[in-house]
Amino acid sequence: FAPSLAAPGDFLQCLSSSVPSERVFTPSSPSFTSVLVSSIRNPKFFTPTTVRPLCIVTPTNASHVQAAVLCGRRHDVRVRVRSGGHDYEGLSYRSERPEVFAVVDLANLRAVRVDRVAATAWVDSGATVGELYYAVAKAAPGLAFPAGVCSTMGLGGHFSGGGMGMMMRKYGLSIDNVLDATLVDANGRLLDKEAMGSDLFWAIRGGGGGNFGAVLSWKIRLVPVPSTVTFSNIQKTIDQGAASAVTKWQTLAPALPEALSIRVIVQNQQALFQTLYLGGCSALVRAMSSLFPELGMTRADCREMSWLQSTVYINSGDIKTPVETLLNRTTSLSTFTKNKSDYVKQAITKDTWDKIFPWFNGSAAGLMILEPHGGRVGSIADADTPYPHRSGVLYNIQYVAFWTGNGTDGPDWISGLYNFMEPFVSKSPRGAYVNYRDLDIGENTVVGGVTSYDSGKVWGESYFGGNFERLAITKGKVDAGDYFRNEQSVPPLLSRK
Ligand code: FDA
Repeated sequence: FAPSLAAPGDFLQCLSSSVPSERVFTPSSPSFTSVLVSSIRNPKFFTPTTVRPLCIVTPTNASHVQAAVLCGRRHDVRVRVRSGGHDYEGLSYRSERPEVFAVVDLANLRAVRVDRVAATAWVDSGATVGELYYAVAKAAPGLAFPAGVCSTMGLGGHFSGGGMGMMMRKYGLSIDNVLDATLVDANGRLLDKEAMGSDLFWAIRGGGGGNFGAVLSWKIRLVPVPSTVTFSNIQKTIDQGAASAVTKWQTLAPALPEALSIRVIVQNQQALFQTLYLGGCSALVRAMSSLFPELGMTRADCREMSWLQSTVYINSGDIKTPVETLLNRTTSLSTFTKNKSDYVKQAITKDTWDKIFPWFNGSAAGLMILEPHGGRVGSIADADTPYPHRSGVLYNIQYVAFWTGNGTDGPDWISGLYNFMEPFVSKSPRGAYVNYRDLDIGENTVVGGVTSYDSGKVWGESYFGGNFERLAITKGKVDAGDYFRNEQSVPPLLSRK
């Protein structure tokens, strides 16, 4: 790793001329720790040996972000941008290696401005997914936005990596509905879509967070939803045919009508089928009894509600949970997690599912989430956005291991299962979802002061397939000095390989 030339004192001095002192927290500030942990979810990344930032800047306007980048460039202090802090490897607020860096935490930049007539909104990166859902549904009933399932995620990181959720089969990923954006680049300039140019605008919609600058806000296209949607949770045990039902689900779910989305959670030797239908219960039960009779869905399995309510219900399972919980940004530091991902292009046989289910027995605290593709998300060309897992993908797998206690090392079973799955998932390269960041698939090395392209390619082609090279060329154009850098950032490539 290159020796650091950082001048922390000069950096802080430089900041003080443009950013009010109450917006900058150093380890000697009484609130430093509480600001640092405010959006950390994984206690694995909050230990005495975690490499912490020199300071945290909490901007309230764009000029503060610009100042942080300009001072950082001048005094060799990198910034890591944090929106919601949900990065699975904690790269928005910690470094794997010794490094002097500052965190620019965008939590205070979180306005959501809805234009009901145009069916668009400008949303700041520091807003959470829950705040977005709530603001849109309240300001423009009948409109919604396709994004992920966890309400405390920040829009900055979530949109930067794609944004998968229950409406992606109907409306695509979040990034498929981004119309414009503002970004502070490595030269401290504030650019919109027109000023940043088509390559950079392409790259920030799915090319991963922390690579090209700090995206401050996004203009998004809102999408229509009916006043009543239906949600259903149906659980099947192994004895009730869980393995056969999942086997069938693999090719059925990606081909269903786009308004009908069924994801599966495999846990404790059971499969939970979570269905969102953009319509009423009667039509859903009719469709399911002809398309997927194995689930045995009846009216008793349906819960009719507003789309906004469904974004709460999917996590709480309780129709009485108030929609205002979407506004709660508090996260808990109690559970250690490790996540990995895969894509499946050819259905896995029932025999193999019979072998997968036993990985989730009582002692293995973990689960597997299967998210169907197809529909709109699968019909967009692989190169239209950096997210390449489109045509031919049946579904995404997320493996989640969780544990409590002191150990920062996760259980071995998740790597064991990941190895076991290799023959059954996408290959050459084995795909992975950048928003389910996983440093096991590769970490950058820095050569001559910049990240080497060859080290990035190892993990980069898993996340971005054939789009990786264009991302690296774009990085070479907009940040040749590799200022926005982390353990898995896109390396700058100055000419085609
Ligand atoms: P965080 O602030 O940690 O940033 C993540 C990365 O993006 C970092 O590299 C950071 O530097 C960079 N970054 C952040 N803000 C930026 C900005 N404004 N400009 C440029 N770079 C920026 N995903 C999904 O698609 N669907 C889902 O349903 C879920 N569900 C889910 C549940 C839970 C509990 C977790 C922890 C995570 C998910 N995810 C997910 C994954 C999620 O999309 C991913 O972790 C996002 O990067 C989180 O964005 P944050 O802003 O919260 O992260």
